[in-house]
Amino acid sequence: MEVKKFITKTTKEIRKTVGDEKVLVACSGGVDSVTCAILGHKALGKKLLAIFIDDGLMREGEPQAVTKILRKFGVKTKLVRVRSKFFKALKKKADPERKRKAFRDTFYKVLGQAVKTEKAKFLIQGTIKADIIETQGGVKTQHNVLEQIGIDPQKYGLKVLEPLKELFKPEVRQVAKTLGLPQEVSERMPFPGPGLATRIVGEVTPRRVKIVRQATKIIEKELEKLKPFQAFAVLLADKATGIKGGKRAFGNIIVIRCVNSSDAMTAKPSHIPFELLQKIQEDLTKIPSIVRVCYDLTPKPPATIEYI
Ligand code: XMP
Repeated sequence: MEVKKFITKTTKEIRKTVGDEKVLVACSGGVDSVTCAILGHKALGKKLLAIFIDDGLMREGEPQAVTKILRKFGVKTKLVRVRSKFFKALKKKADPERKRKAFRDTFYKVLGQAVKTEKAKFLIQGTIKADIIETQGGVKTQHNVLEQIGIDPQKYGLKVLEPLKELFKPEVRQVAKTLGLPQEVSERMPFPGPGLATRIVGEVTPRRVKIVRQATKIIEKELEKLKPFQAFAVLLADKATGIKGGKRAFGNIIVIRCVNSSDAMTAKPSHIPFELLQKIQEDLTKIPSIVRVCYDLTPKPPATIEYI
């Protein structure tokens, strides 16, 4: 792919499709959606509004960090705080696809509302080729693949543009770099649309999100230096017996997930020095409710990268 040509062609197409209408881009903070926002901004300037939906399922400091980057690039940005809507929708749901559906429905309702309020006619989103292939292949429902799973975006009052849908992740990173995005964005580990909910087995509650968020921060800090494709924490639904403060504690189990991959279609567990795994375990078990830490050795396939 000729990156500069792709950027010129895509910005021209976006301009042509939307004419004088107002356009929204939904940003999750991942490289795909931020790249879309910058592409959209290049094409449309102030006619583009980036919406960052604070769903309560982000990594620590993410809403602030993402809005800061977008504003630095001159993208008009709005932060919508709707955490309780998402927690309400996810309440008492343990089944992975039910959780994905609840997330997706809430996400598009919130976006649909924003589209109406802002009187926008189009929505740009960062669907990439792997999302489409895996959704069509029945691996799982990616929250951002609407038409491909038979959802009519019109139901939410949206006309959707997906400028990255022919690209795989490494190509998206090239586009991001060429657009001038800093390395911390262009080389950032992918973060799924449904956020930390994909890393919680069982019910997603504010309390359980807080645990996985704290654990993620520790794991990312220690494993980023290995430059994995993704590294994160997973909170299991099961509990196990441990000892805290000299007393028996029936607590949480955290899985360290760290994989190498180029396009997320397949992945291999990273070789992590045992001493580093031990250091991470020590830090993780300082979190009061965590009594055990495991390392996931499973490649994709047969596992997927995320846990739901
Ligand atoms: P899996 O778990 O299916 O993940 O092996 C493959 C890649 O996709 C990311 N992922 C998502 N990205 N919406 C997204 O935008 C989603 O619903 C979603 N689910 C998984 C995951 O982080 C990995 O990079």
